[in-house]
Amino acid sequence: MIPENFVQELLARIDIVDVVERYVPLRKAGANYSACCPFHSEKTPSFTVSPSKQFYHCFGCGAHGSAIGFLMQHAGIGFIEAVEDLASSAGLQVPHEERNRAERAKKAPLTELMARAMMFYREQLKTSPKAVDYLKGRGLTGEIAAKFGLGYAPDGWQGLQQVFPDYNDPALVECGLVIVNEQGRRYDRFRDRVMFPILDQRGNVIGFGGRVIGEGEPKYLNSPETPLFEKGRELYGLPQARKAIQEEDTVLVVEGYMDVVGLVQAGVENVVATLGTAATDANVQKLLKQASRVVFCFDRDSAGDRAAWRAMEVSLSHLADNKTVEILQMPGNQDPDEFVREHGKDAFVQQTRSATRLSEFLLRELVKRTNPNTAEGRAMLVHEAKPLLQKMSAPILRVQLTKEIAQRAQVSQAEVEAQCGLKPLARSRYAPAQMKQRPVPSSVEYKLLQIVLHKPEWAARLPLELIDRERVEGEALSAIADAIEHGELPTGGFGMLLEFFRDTPHEALIAAIAANMVEEVDLGALEGVFNDSVVRLRQTAVADEIKRLNARANEGGLNAEERKRLTELVATKRPGAPSTTGGPV
Ligand code: UTP
Ligand code: MN
Repeated sequence: MIPENFVQELLARIDIVDVVERYVPLRKAGANYSACCPFHSEKTPSFTVSPSKQFYHCFGCGAHGSAIGFLMQHAGIGFIEAVEDLASSAGLQVPHEERNRAERAKKAPLTELMARAMMFYREQLKTSPKAVDYLKGRGLTGEIAAKFGLGYAPDGWQGLQQVFPDYNDPALVECGLVIVNEQGRRYDRFRDRVMFPILDQRGNVIGFGGRVIGEGEPKYLNSPETPLFEKGRELYGLPQARKAIQEEDTVLVVEGYMDVVGLVQAGVENVVATLGTAATDANVQKLLKQASRVVFCFDRDSAGDRAAWRAMEVSLSHLADNKTVEILQMPGNQDPDEFVREHGKDAFVQQTRSATRLSEFLLRELVKRTNPNTAEGRAMLVHEAKPLLQKMSAPILRVQLTKEIAQRAQVSQAEVEAQCGLKPLARSRYAPAQMKQRPVPSSVEYKLLQIVLHKPEWAARLPLELIDRERVEGEALSAIADAIEHGELPTGGFGMLLEFFRDTPHEALIAAIAANMVEEVDLGALEGVFNDSVVRLRQTAVADEIKRLNARANEGGLNAEERKRLTELVATKRPGAPSTTGGPV
């Protein structure tokens, strides 16, 4: 995690013109610089760099961003790498700070409760022959049970009272150990179960999975999502596996707690599990950071097949040409734990060696789904391949795959590229990504957002209570105003602002609006539009309130105060009337 203020400091120290010039010869053109765009082929220059905004934009292909964005796009590298590269050229050292200290301080007491609970469950295991026998029956030794901190939650409603004398502490509920029912009675979430503590990367206990002993429903009970525990982000077994993953430069990903523990028991140690969910983007990102080869192992059933397809889809957008993702579909009806117990370590390792490469898996599944023996099937093949190819982030691998698909579909590579709208990769990464809703360019909020991106300071003058936050543009506008209010918003050109909102829900919209940002604007005229827009916001709010009060009046009447308010509001709408809802901005 690179601290935000370092990114801003870095951008303040470098000049985007120098950065771009390292790769692209620039010519001065008015206040800006121009060149032929490095991201698409063109004969007349439509690529512009603005030194005042510290921002570049191509009118031809739409590429745009800060100096960091340029380097990422041009060199095809990640954010952190780009920051490091720029920092070293500016003679700065990148501080890699721990995430948000305040947030961690808040979590500390909960972490402490979880650690105490784990100790308790571990102690309980020693005194429960039933639980010990169950684990032994599954082939586990005491050594492995200790390595994973396995425990036992005793039968009984309030077993945890033994270690938490203040059983009413709300923190116990917050961290998911205790449940409060509708009558307000409190009881342990985990009762009579074998306990698997879930650790974060630093080794803190953040959640538990509890398995019923023998048959029963649910088979596994898990901690709920808590401030400590976000299921989709965590991987079970990661701290225990880290060393082996490094040594092998490979990480195996299985579906269950028992698969991890069983494999480690058998001597396969570079293994982690997703937590009962399909692989997420956060999972895949984390996995690809650990090793250059990731092998997903799935059971061979319909759920496993669906999970394999999903893992493939998610992995596509995180691949790099020096990383591989593979898919292993377990033979027979066995999961990895069952397989390794029956056939042993070597046979399992052998299986992982014959796992299917992601590209091969993709192609094989596509062919299976579309049947390219007919013209229609071949057309379908390209059609189905389109979203997958578009997602792929590894440029060279994508070209390979495009070629293979073209060959099976009996068309040329160029035709597949054209049909699938495959732009040069660097650019597609900058396409406004996953916007929840469509912004409405004719809305007042949109206009204000455009202006505020030119003059962020003005956001401080916005009547925040009148902004429609249901709109994505309203949300972004509020976020900017909020950052200003807290003195967080950098003032050093648009490029900085863009970096400030990187990896936030507002990034896509702000980047989309950025497209027209390098043109110099007349700030005087802009201020007029800004003030008019604020007036329009107020007018809309007044009109809405009148409408609401009128509707209520028709239904059954208003009280005296509301009637007075209505009269006042109507009066403000008369020409020449003094405004009651706020003066000039
Ligand atoms: P499986 O049903 O495949 O169980 O669930 P398993 O891993 O083979 O477990 P054993 O061998 O019978 O003990 C795989 C994973 O799905 C989640 C758990 O994370 C489990 O490890 N799961 C499954 C639940 O969360 N709840 C359930 O009731 C079942
Ligand atoms: Mn199993």
